[in-house]
Amino acid sequence: MEIRTKAPNLDALRYAAPMLAAPTPALLDALAARLGPHGFSRDPHELEPYLTDWRGRYHGKAAALLSPANRDEVVAIVKACADAKVAIVPQGGNTGMVGGATPDATGGAVVLSLKRMRAVRTIDVAADLAICEAGVVLADLHAKAEDLGRRFPLSLGAKGSATIGGLCSTNAGGVQVLRFGTMRSLVHGVEAVLPDGSLFEDLQPLKKDNRGYSISQLLIGAEGTLGVITAASLRLYPKIGARTVAWIGLASPENALILLRHLERKLPERIESFELVPKSALDLVLQHIPNVQAPLAQPHPWNVLVEATVPDGSPAPDVASALEDALDLIEDAAIAANETQAEGMWRIRESISEAEKKDGPAAKHDISVPVSAMPGFVVRGAADIEKRFPGTRVNAFGHLGDGNIHFNVRAPVGAPKDWVDTSSHPITEHVHDLVTQAGGSISAEHGIGQMKRDELARLSDPARMHALRAIKTALDPHGIMNPGKLL
Ligand code: FAD
Ligand code: MLT
Ligand code: ZN
Repeated sequence: MEIRTKAPNLDALRYAAPMLAAPTPALLDALAARLGPHGFSRDPHELEPYLTDWRGRYHGKAAALLSPANRDEVVAIVKACADAKVAIVPQGGNTGMVGGATPDATGGAVVLSLKRMRAVRTIDVAADLAICEAGVVLADLHAKAEDLGRRFPLSLGAKGSATIGGLCSTNAGGVQVLRFGTMRSLVHGVEAVLPDGSLFEDLQPLKKDNRGYSISQLLIGAEGTLGVITAASLRLYPKIGARTVAWIGLASPENALILLRHLERKLPERIESFELVPKSALDLVLQHIPNVQAPLAQPHPWNVLVEATVPDGSPAPDVASALEDALDLIEDAAIAANETQAEGMWRIRESISEAEKKDGPAAKHDISVPVSAMPGFVVRGAADIEKRFPGTRVNAFGHLGDGNIHFNVRAPVGAPKDWVDTSSHPITEHVHDLVTQAGGSISAEHGIGQMKRDELARLSDPARMHALRAIKTALDPHGIMNPGKLL
């Protein structure tokens, strides 16, 4: 495959971060007094889980862990840190994939955890609206909405820990984007404390609002670099009436995409998940995750997990009939006969990251290209990488219908634990070059964090980098918000 590598000019493109200060004892005492014993800690044991990312790849230090109970306390923290030019690293559930919530190694930053701010302020069923504090865990919102006959249609493997603030700040995607979009399309607006300590309130569900730039949309996907989100107003949808979940074995990702279009024609407005699972990913889950069973009797090179839903009162979507018209595309299929089987299929899909982590090092790439180009990209890209970097094994899975695949490259068998830090860099550069050449994105849903900062600068066009830097400098002139991330 021909590729074009741009000469890196990182210094010219990188944001010049202002000098920051370590917090003084007086500042720490003032914060301790303001936040009380539940909201302030310097105990190394308490801090420890906040200093390493989910993958265990980034480790940092912090001067203190701040856990405010409400937005007024967030305002007080940000004002105090802005005055003292002290760095703040916001953190939600710490499930992010790019080291975005991990402080650097200097120990000069404070970690601001939103975990105590977990109130669902209102659920307005008539308006299909939920207003949640930033620390609300996604699964808790799912449960609360369900109790009232509604649902929040964004889900992902980390739903038991990921928070509304983190989901907004990464513009998270997940397994229902096909039908409902990413967080950007599910959030009416946010409430946030901006880097100077001012409170920005935009929680009204206005259908029309053209007061200039959308500050809420700017904060969504900002990865904590433009302020601290304290609450969000979220769109709800009617609860699912019935669902059909199917596991389908196929010969190629190309057939998978043709099948998706076929199912969308046969079952309009019903298909909400269509997840690609290669044999390698299924094997990893079967090997490392207890109590899972392969849904099909024989292995297949590729599989898809399909979920079709209907609103209350309608019969379950007839995926079986739709598949009968596509027998030339598929090798085998199993339709979940009950909720236990459906959950079993989902468990396989949602455990891929965990299984891959248990298996050993892998260079992870969260990429998107135009949907129609993804099948070819996956097949040709994997062959190219495995040939160029002997011994590596591509594990490409995920959100095919969104043109977003986790194109992960597993280390050769027997590679040292620090393979990703020492040896995977040329692989990552090559994958990202291929993606850029295909007109795609090196971050489809996880964000940039500290992991892809240099790659963003290397591969972005200067206009994008200039605009990102200008916005950052204008809103956060002292550079206190999540330094070292994104820019
Ligand atoms: P954190 O990890 O704590 O933080 C993420 C970023 O947001 C950091 O930059 C942090 O500084 C910032 N931040 C957090 N809270 C705030 C706030 N209140 N204000 C300002 N900034 C804040 N992601 C997907 O998009 N799709 C998936 O399908 C998906 N699947 C996953 C599966 C597994 C098993 C795991 C472990 C992760 C998965 N992720 C997925 C990644 C992750 O769950 C998301 O990025 C999620 O949005 C992170 O939420 P969090 O609360 O854990 O945020
Ligand atoms: C997923 O879709 O499972 C995730 O985004 C996690 C991953 O990339 O590992
Ligand atoms: Zn994903």
